[in-house]
Amino acid sequence: MAATLSEFKRYKPWEVDGKFFGDGREVALLDYVYGHPELDQMRGSPAKVCQAIDAFARSHTGLINVGLMKGAIVTELIARNKPSVMLELGGYVGYSAILFGDALRQAGGSRFFSVEKNPLFAAVAASLIDLAGLRDTVRVVVGTGAEGIQRLHGEGALGTQIDMAFFDHHKPSYTNDLKLCERLGLIGKGTVLVADNMILPGNPEYAAYVRASVAEKLQKAAGGEEMGNPNLEYVSRFVPSYEPSGEQDALEITECTGIAA
Ligand SMILES: C[S@@+](CC[C@H](N)C(=O)[O-])C[C@H]1O[C@@H](n2cnc3c(N)ncnc32)[C@H](O)[C@@H]1O
Repeated sequence: MAATLSEFKRYKPWEVDGKFFGDGREVALLDYVYGHPELDQMRGSPAKVCQAIDAFARSHTGLINVGLMKGAIVTELIARNKPSVMLELGGYVGYSAILFGDALRQAGGSRFFSVEKNPLFAAVAASLIDLAGLRDTVRVVVGTGAEGIQRLHGEGALGTQIDMAFFDHHKPSYTNDLKLCERLGLIGKGTVLVADNMILPGNPEYAAYVRASVAEKLQKAAGGEEMGNPNLEYVSRFVPSYEPSGEQDALEITECTGIAA
């Protein structure tokens, strides 16, 4: 049986007075980190900055980060796949950008882009990424997933293909944002997609899309909708894990294996 997150490592509940984020806790996190007695040891240390974010979420207020257990699955995937360029949609306070940006850098990669819609969260993330010494690797982009993809593609920052992508933003946008990447030619053989929250709250539309055959996608594609590239072939698996709060969740890990002729 998979290990569960031990009680002492669990985050505090996310919900406080009906709010899950955006009630001041993100700025409180920044105050906590910059007032921490071990601040100097955090400078240039992604691991210590992530530990401080975890410590805040265990002692003060829960944070909607990917957490240690799902995070370890993704960092192992980064070590194995050695992406040069990785795109994240949904950066929040920068926990996953620091964890995965560090893993990407250690694997020899060059750029990790983190797109975040909320400018305050993006500012908190940028400050913590800088503290962790990752400013040359990780760039925070303020905007929706679609805006970020279009802007980065327009600048040529994503190159010819995204090596890995992490979807952790607005759940109903996962499928359309993936299709946008497909239409722009950013997904190709070897691209690895990781989608968070496949149980909490779940994302049946996205799961159905990445698990569908080319024939099924061509049959379903309707005029007027974002078509993406239905000829892309994917192999996809559901990987159970846990939220940092201890609740069950899962990732969907999908690899593009080629383009149907
Ligand atoms: C679950 S949090 C991301 C957590 C982060 N990946 C981590 O593990 O540290 C989701 C984030 O997506 C952002 N968001 C919501 N809708 C978005 C959209 N359409 N495009 C980009 N970001 C969005 C929210 O503001 C929030 O910060």
